Amino acid sequence: MTNEHQLEELRAAALTDIAGAASLDDLERARVAHAGRKSAIAEILSGIGSLPKEQRGPVGKGANAVRAAIDAAIEERQGAIEAEELGSRLATDPTDVTLPGDAHPLGALHPITQVQRELEEILLGLGYRIADGPETPEIEDDFHNFDALNTPAGHPARSSSDTLYVEGHPGIALRPQTSPAQIRVMEREDPPVYVIHTGAVYRKDDVDATHSPMFHQIEGLAIDDGLTLGHLKGTLLHIARELVGDRESWFQAHFFPFTEPSIELYVEWTDRHGRQTSMELLGAGMVDPNVLRAVGYDPERYTGFAFGAGVDRLAMVRFGIPDLRLLYEGDLRVLEQFA
Ligand code: DAH
Repeated sequence: MTNEHQLEELRAAALTDIAGAASLDDLERARVAHAGRKSAIAEILSGIGSLPKEQRGPVGKGANAVRAAIDAAIEERQGAIEAEELGSRLATDPTDVTLPGDAHPLGALHPITQVQRELEEILLGLGYRIADGPETPEIEDDFHNFDALNTPAGHPARSSSDTLYVEGHPGIALRPQTSPAQIRVMEREDPPVYVIHTGAVYRKDDVDATHSPMFHQIEGLAIDDGLTLGHLKGTLLHIARELVGDRESWFQAHFFPFTEPSIELYVEWTDRHGRQTSMELLGAGMVDPNVLRAVGYDPERYTGFAFGAGVDRLAMVRFGIPDLRLLYEGDLRVLEQFA
């Protein structure tokens, strides 16, 4: 019959062996001996059913307590041995590939960059090429900013109250639009041309919820045989659908010096006061024959269309950002929402 004394002896023997285990192998041997299937404690536990009724309770309780104490001692010793082994391994080889690394929080693309890339993906999918780098500079001369774009002397866009000219360099300005990229490309290439260019543009605008003296545009240009206003509208509607989904959008007739006819694309928009209004997203049109002539293209042979869209405004509509200034303040509480 099992008595308290026996259980106490089993417990003491087990704990001594466990405490003396110097390696995980030692510890495993101690576990098999004192807590394994053929250990004394396992036999006591499996024999409880055949004990006289009045002994089952006390014996079961005592044996289970011993068993739990042995398990706990094994677990504790295992942790200690592992720590010791790690310590001595680190003493000889300080590289521990199992330690958790330092967390390096991942950055994220700015919402304007995200929309720029989405737009580029959409247009690359339609067969456009990206024109970038020195090919399309941000500091431009009057010819590319205005003359070649059929913008006559005296046009308000050419005045220094609208455009930021470089001091001491007459006729050189921070480009007020990405449209000079069209000229740069056509000067180098013959039709067919399908290009886009995204970048910063600069204007003497006061800052408000939808204006900034520096913002971003994406310019598109397509010149080929037989392009029509229908192709332009189809292209713009495709972009609007991809980017701003099922928001209502519509065209309005407009005037640009470099296109004829000219249109603008508007989209329904809830402003920062919760008012339902509309936002102008882009200007576009059929490239004016004078522009084609300025780059040496034959307007009798080729036609084409162009568009220039505000990337910042598209980001506002795309993400429901109510105020343009939020995109430029670098406030992580805002930016983290787009990670
Ligand atoms: N450059 C115009 C602007 O900044 C937008 C624009 C209109 C671009 C018509 C174009 C175009 O390429 O064809 O307002």
